Amino acid sequence: MTDIHCHILPDLDDGAASLEEALEMARMAYFSGVTDIAATPHFRGEREQLRILEPMERRFRLLSEALRRENIPVRLHPGAEVLCLPETPLLAARHELPTLGTGDHVLCEFYFDESFTFMDQTLTEIAEAGYRVVVAHPERYGAVQRDPYLLKRWARQGFVLQINKGSVLGAFGPGPERAANDLLAVGLAHLIATDAHSCRSRTTHVGSLREWVEEHCHEDYAQILLDRNPRRVLEGRPMVGQD
Ligand SMILES: [Fe+2]
Repeated sequence: MTDIHCHILPDLDDGAASLEEALEMARMAYFSGVTDIAATPHFRGEREQLRILEPMERRFRLLSEALRRENIPVRLHPGAEVLCLPETPLLAARHELPTLGTGDHVLCEFYFDESFTFMDQTLTEIAEAGYRVVVAHPERYGAVQRDPYLLKRWARQGFVLQINKGSVLGAFGPGPERAANDLLAVGLAHLIATDAHSCRSRTTHVGSLREWVEEHCHEDYAQILLDRNPRRVLEGRPMVGQD
C-alpha cells in the first residue's frame, strides 16, 4: 500500500513526537504492507506559515536518513496537509502551496464545521490556480455528513476524495463511518490513507483496513483505493476509477 496522508515527521505537529516514534511508525507501516509514505505535517494555509517549510524539509531529510540507517525499506515522499483558510487561495495563486510527492496535488483539509460554500469556493480557486485538489477525509466534515451527495459535484470537478482509515473502521463514531461506507459503496472514494499520528492510536498499521476493504469492495476497487490511486497522486497523475 501507498499511504499519502501520515503525520510521521518528528517533533513538528501533533504527529510523531520524536525520531524514535517516527521510526516505529515506519516499522509498523512496513510490517503491515506499506511500501511508500507521504509525510504530511499540518500546514496552516496562510502566508505566515511559509516559514515552517524549511524546518519541514530538514525533518524530512533527517527521517529519510534514519530510515536508511535503520534498514527500514519504506520510501518517504514529501508532502503536507494544508488547512484551508481565507488566505489559502492567495498562496495558491502565487504557487506557494506544498504539494504531494513529485506532482501537483495539494492535500486540503478544513475545520470540521466549515460551511460547504467556503470549502467549495476555496477548492475551486486552488484548482483554478493550477493545482490538483485532494480533499482530506471529506467524510469527517459536518456539511458532507448532512448531504453526502455534495461530493458527487466535487468528484465531477476532478477533486480527489481521500477517506481516512479510522472513518472506515468506525474509530471516529457513526457519522464519519456511515459517510465513508456510503462513499465506498457507490465508488465515489478515490483512495484511503491512514492519517496516522502515532504508533498507539491512529497508527500507521493497515492490516485491518486491508481486511475490511477486501471484504467489502470489489478486488479491482480495493487495489485502486490502496495502491494504484495513491501512487498516481504522488506522481501527479489523474485518478483511475472502476471499470
Ligand atoms: Fe491529517
